[in-house]
Amino acid sequence: MAISAEELFDQLRRAPDIESPELVAVDATDRLLLDTAADLIAAAGPGEVAVVDDGYGALTLGAVALHGARDVRVAQDLLVGELALARNAERTGLVGTYRSVPLAAELAAGARVVLVQAPKALDALREIAEVVAASAAPDVTVLVGGRVKHMTHAMNDVLRDSFADVSAGLARQKSRVLVARGPQPGPSSFPHSQDHPDVGLTVLAHGAAFAGTKIDLGTRTLLGCLDRMPSHGTALDLGAGTGVLATALARSRPELTVLAVDQSAAAVASAVATAAANGLDERIRVVRDDAAASVPDGSVDLVVCNPPFHLGAAVVTTAADRLFAAAARVLRPGGELWTVYNSALRYKPTLGRIVGPTTLAQQTPKFTVTVSIRR
Ligand SMILES: C[S@@+](CC[C@H](N)C(=O)[O-])C[C@H]1O[C@@H](n2cnc3c(N)ncnc32)[C@H](O)[C@@H]1O
Repeated sequence: MAISAEELFDQLRRAPDIESPELVAVDATDRLLLDTAADLIAAAGPGEVAVVDDGYGALTLGAVALHGARDVRVAQDLLVGELALARNAERTGLVGTYRSVPLAAELAAGARVVLVQAPKALDALREIAEVVAASAAPDVTVLVGGRVKHMTHAMNDVLRDSFADVSAGLARQKSRVLVARGPQPGPSSFPHSQDHPDVGLTVLAHGAAFAGTKIDLGTRTLLGCLDRMPSHGTALDLGAGTGVLATALARSRPELTVLAVDQSAAAVASAVATAAANGLDERIRVVRDDAAASVPDGSVDLVVCNPPFHLGAAVVTTAADRLFAAAARVLRPGGELWTVYNSALRYKPTLGRIVGPTTLAQQTPKFTVTVSIRR
């Protein structure tokens, strides 16, 4: 091949995701997956390689540049990963060698090699396995790679529900690959659905959506404050997940125009399904974007946000800060950001700095709800 793995990987970046010296664009799992699948990819014809949840493009661009894959199809739950792949393809001169598609039949139809960065949630893996088994070629090999510390036997069991033959490869540099063959096509079990009579909502969830069909305790604490939030104008559920907050707002506030945004494809599909299941699809507009990029500056009266906290240990708050900055940008002066966070996190000064004067609205031993007025 014309290019070595190191030459390729050195060019890959995480942007537009957070960049910092301890965060990488290519990890040991990417390398192990590409090495393990090298011969299979080289033997595959055009359109026979598919990739799922590529972090920043190392799998897709590695399959193309290192092993000669053509017309790769790739589904990434996170929009920042999709955008990073596009930028990395430009940087490496590989634009047009792959196509981004949703996690649906068109991803894996006729695929003979599927590379998967193992998702965190078992239900996310289940949905991937169901989609691939339903549409891939009968002789498909699915390789699921992950960090050993995050891999459990339950993942093998989930794969076994959709594939006849599942085995684990040897670990290398703390990563491991599971290999699944013998697809057993069946109907998709997603989105899952759960009624919550206590809050009067039905929640629908695709596999990778935060909290699945459950309602997170932090979200519940914020729901308890709904009556004190503005009831007119435009509201934004920032990082909407399954759309619980957007749906509850739309139902209790007939005058509000409600937007819901999330960068996760599973979240967006779930929020659309949740709104419909509660008869509110006409009232809620759901958009997949990064940090509300599609929402104009100063156009929103109310933002509700249960921000993400878990990224890498070194940058725990950065993902939340990005959403707070997005809230500050889209709120009109005097508009309100209602947010909930783990009481141990002490975000009040950060919110005061990024958004405006911030007061406690509710505090339990576990969760704090604050309201920030956009200055
Ligand atoms: C803690 S979950 C809360 C989900 C939902 N609001 C709830 O209360 O159940 C945070 C959500 O923020 C989304 N998110 C994280 N970073 C984001 C970003 N940069 N842009 C848009 N959404 C983001 C995640 O995908 C996730 O769905």
